[in-house]
Amino acid sequence: MPLRHRSGRGATEPPAGDQDVSGGQDVSAETSAVRPAPQAEPDGPAEPAALAASTGPLQRDLLPDTAEVGSDGRLRVGGVDLVELAERFGTPLFVYDEAHLRNRCRQAVAAWGDGVAYATKAFLCKAMARLAYDEGMALDVSTAGELAVALAAGVPADRLVFHGNNKSEAELARALDVEVGRIVVDSFDEIDRLGRLVENRPTDPHADPDGGRVRSGRPKVLVRVTPGVEVHTHEFVRTGQEDSKFGFSVASGAASRAVAALELLPGVELVGVHAHIGSQVFDVGHFEQAAEVLGAFFAPLALGELVVGGGLGVPYVNGEDAPTQADWAAAAREACRLSGVDPATRITAEPGRSIVATAGLTLYRVGTVKDLPGIRTYVAVDGGMSDNPRPVLYGSGYEAFLPRAATAPRPREVRVVGKHCESGDVVVADARVPADLAVGDVLCTPVTGAYGYSMASNYNKVPRPPVVFVAGGDARVVVRGETEEDLLRLDA
Ligand code: LLP
Repeated sequence: MPLRHRSGRGATEPPAGDQDVSGGQDVSAETSAVRPAPQAEPDGPAEPAALAASTGPLQRDLLPDTAEVGSDGRLRVGGVDLVELAERFGTPLFVYDEAHLRNRCRQAVAAWGDGVAYATKAFLCKAMARLAYDEGMALDVSTAGELAVALAAGVPADRLVFHGNNKSEAELARALDVEVGRIVVDSFDEIDRLGRLVENRPTDPHADPDGGRVRSGRPKVLVRVTPGVEVHTHEFVRTGQEDSKFGFSVASGAASRAVAALELLPGVELVGVHAHIGSQVFDVGHFEQAAEVLGAFFAPLALGELVVGGGLGVPYVNGEDAPTQADWAAAAREACRLSGVDPATRITAEPGRSIVATAGLTLYRVGTVKDLPGIRTYVAVDGGMSDNPRPVLYGSGYEAFLPRAATAPRPREVRVVGKHCESGDVVVADARVPADLAVGDVLCTPVTGAYGYSMASNYNKVPRPPVVFVAGGDARVVVRGETEEDLLRLDA
């Protein structure tokens, strides 16, 4: 399968009429102004502005809110010089703009209100969990592991929403035991499992044998449904269609049967309905469509909560443009209203990517440059598919630039590859870089904050990189880099 120079919008089924931006870093080539990055506004997105000079444009909204180019042409994020960061912490390195993360959380809370949950699968460590919680978000966790990290971060269990299409009995028992705020029920087998677990569970606080801890009452559950909407995104990240491993189909009547079964379960309180149609969705029309089906199913149930899932797309490469949290929320709300959903309903969402993707970028060091005349030039960096498997998995496209010369023209076409032992180990299939790129340079791929670190691996026993948060001129390590000892720590 050829790699496309596209974002996660989908390698297999780009939306009709979608602009092809292959090799297209010149989409805004007419823009010649080099403007310093706007400072982060707590309540609004930074104003998108052209970052680059005429021959090397990188769309401003591909960079974190606090990104700014100094008079020396070097890029700083959070007031910290990226090349210096690479020197201080080594490469590869994940760098997150803390102000950007906070801004996006605040925007989500402003758009959706209380209950909007950060989908931790996009990027999770204790610092991120705490940050999202501090900024007023609930947290979506989908395994016992994500639950454990969120709890270790000090997030109260009642701010957690527990997901998963195949929750084990142990996972459900743990979620019930710590009293997560919501459990999103995904299958009839799970309803059986839940039934068995709650049967023997004391709901009367006085009868609680658990060290006298007072239980807050029956666990609150939502039922996850598939509205039968196919979104134009990569097939691996589509979830709303009929043919899905997730949730109960509305069309087949399974969703109604699940609601009836949960209403008959005395040990749980059914509070709402949930759906998630897919990820990296650019067209609010898809969200509207899903919300219409969802709203029509939900309205007669007289329940209080409707969660429309996550999925808001972000631009990864020049020429892409995504709706804001506010656009998305307004479209979903209006579609729900038109479907007869009671205005008092708590309508919320679970954004992951749109909170963290653009906040993060990856710094690599160029190790080899292999020129194949008439074929292509390979620029190999010291990471690859182990820190960003998205190009290999979904054919996702990225941009690349040199932080030492962030506004330099990028006339040279190269393929940025990693250090892993296979040809599919591509970081940027069709990158444009400055003509003077050389071995030893720090190379940056922006928009790597979502599903990069969280899907990182130790393939070829490459240690996972450290993660730093930058803010106010300081950098702090929030996840340390793995060492050789870490690589051996599980061996018996
Ligand atoms: N809620 C549920 C139930 C989900 O399954 C997901 C993502 C989200 C919320 C958050 O979606 P987001 O806002 O991040 O799009 N690894 C893929 C993405 C997989 C998404 C899985 N579920 C990628 O790298 O593109």
